[in-house]
Amino acid sequence: MSGFPQDFLWGAATAAYQVEGGHDADGKGPSIWDVFSHLPGTTWQGTNGDVAVDHYHRFREDVALMAEMGLQSYRFSLSWPRVLPAGRGEVNEAGIQFYSDLIDALLEHNIEPMITLYHWDLPQALQDEGGWERRSTAEAFLEYARLCYARFGSRVKLWATFNETVVFIGHGYITGSHPPGVRDPARAVQACHHVFVAHALAVKAFRDSGIAGQIGFVNVLQPHTALTDKPEDVAAKALADAIYTHWLYDPVLKGEYPAELVAQTQALWGVPRYAPGDDALLKENICDFIGLNYYKRETVTANPDKTSLKANHSGERNSGHQFGFKGLYKFVRNPQGVYTDWDWEIWPQGLTDGIMQIKARYGDVPIYITENGLGAKDPIVDGEIVDDPRIDYLRMHIKAIETAIAQGADVRGYYPWSFIDLLSWLNGYQKQYGFVYVDHAHNLARKRKKSFFWYQDVIKNNGV
Ligand code: NOJ
Repeated sequence: MSGFPQDFLWGAATAAYQVEGGHDADGKGPSIWDVFSHLPGTTWQGTNGDVAVDHYHRFREDVALMAEMGLQSYRFSLSWPRVLPAGRGEVNEAGIQFYSDLIDALLEHNIEPMITLYHWDLPQALQDEGGWERRSTAEAFLEYARLCYARFGSRVKLWATFNETVVFIGHGYITGSHPPGVRDPARAVQACHHVFVAHALAVKAFRDSGIAGQIGFVNVLQPHTALTDKPEDVAAKALADAIYTHWLYDPVLKGEYPAELVAQTQALWGVPRYAPGDDALLKENICDFIGLNYYKRETVTANPDKTSLKANHSGERNSGHQFGFKGLYKFVRNPQGVYTDWDWEIWPQGLTDGIMQIKARYGDVPIYITENGLGAKDPIVDGEIVDDPRIDYLRMHIKAIETAIAQGADVRGYYPWSFIDLLSWLNGYQKQYGFVYVDHAHNLARKRKKSFFWYQDVIKNNGV
């Protein structure tokens, strides 16, 4: 018997910049990723989202594949500059029409849409004014959110404001490998504060709109393990938890920052600076659910180099995002670990543990696993994509979710990353995640992988 509730949602996820293409089609404005990816040396072989996998023009074919797979929900993001080319003000009706048609196509196939409002593609026009470092960007986000609620709210019940703030702020403002390419932790903390403000404003507007749905926030779920039980490694692990979890989850689930950490950033850099009313705004606008993106754990050790901020970015290539404050910790390879082609440790137990840690700290908040998946170079045998490693990875993680549910966690849906092979932000198309392969040599033709049929069965059986 399946350990998943009858109404559990089996989904899959993507993000606008990574699939849509149509970067300047029908009145869309440029996003920071359109501009940044065209700067020399920013991405692998200069890859960019100009065309991506052309979902903008092929969404009906893609939705038909989703339906064939039996998908019950589809998580996708809206491109803010597609609907508001300058970030605020004039609406691009063609952009609205695209999402409206996509939503209708999904609903015709009984696929529940889950919208992410912000998956990193800020309108360049707002970046030109200072981006997330300016409070006015949070106000523009409110305008954008209200527009989307008004146009799509009668058809869409599941909404998330932001995706993986630790990544777009961390890489945007600490390692500098994502736009706007800044390397300054103080600016990161202030920009992050404006994201929390934007989120809370959008949650409030959602409730005021009366939409019969739920609104949440999507975070990286990254458990940490100390390399040794030496006190300095244990302290390093605690700091990594405080930054990756408490800093990012407390403001949206408790309505406040973790006191100890905020005391440190304020003493060090005088941030975050609050505007009057921010405390109450955060407190009064707790999310309805939390989305967890789980891929890996990190092993943590004390960083002996305490002299400088360590932000030794390894991008998506190696162990992922590493943001230290004053070089107090670093991530290292787990000598016993099993790693992906991109050096991400495969550790399904971390998904059960992570979910249970969220429950322990925040209570019975509804949870969606909004991303989880294996990035790999898929084996092709006689023209078929035989992605057995992906099937193994997903099976183990589905089991891990089932275990968490058996232990009392309220997990309501699972959205593997990703529905289709899509553009990695920095790595082009080398790293595949999808159930559907895209043939870049043959007009972006879609092809079902072995995992496509496997997941079809999972959905039919409500589990593995
Ligand atoms: C999480 C991000 O949300 C997504 O955009 C990215 O492609 C995957 N991680 C894989 O790195």
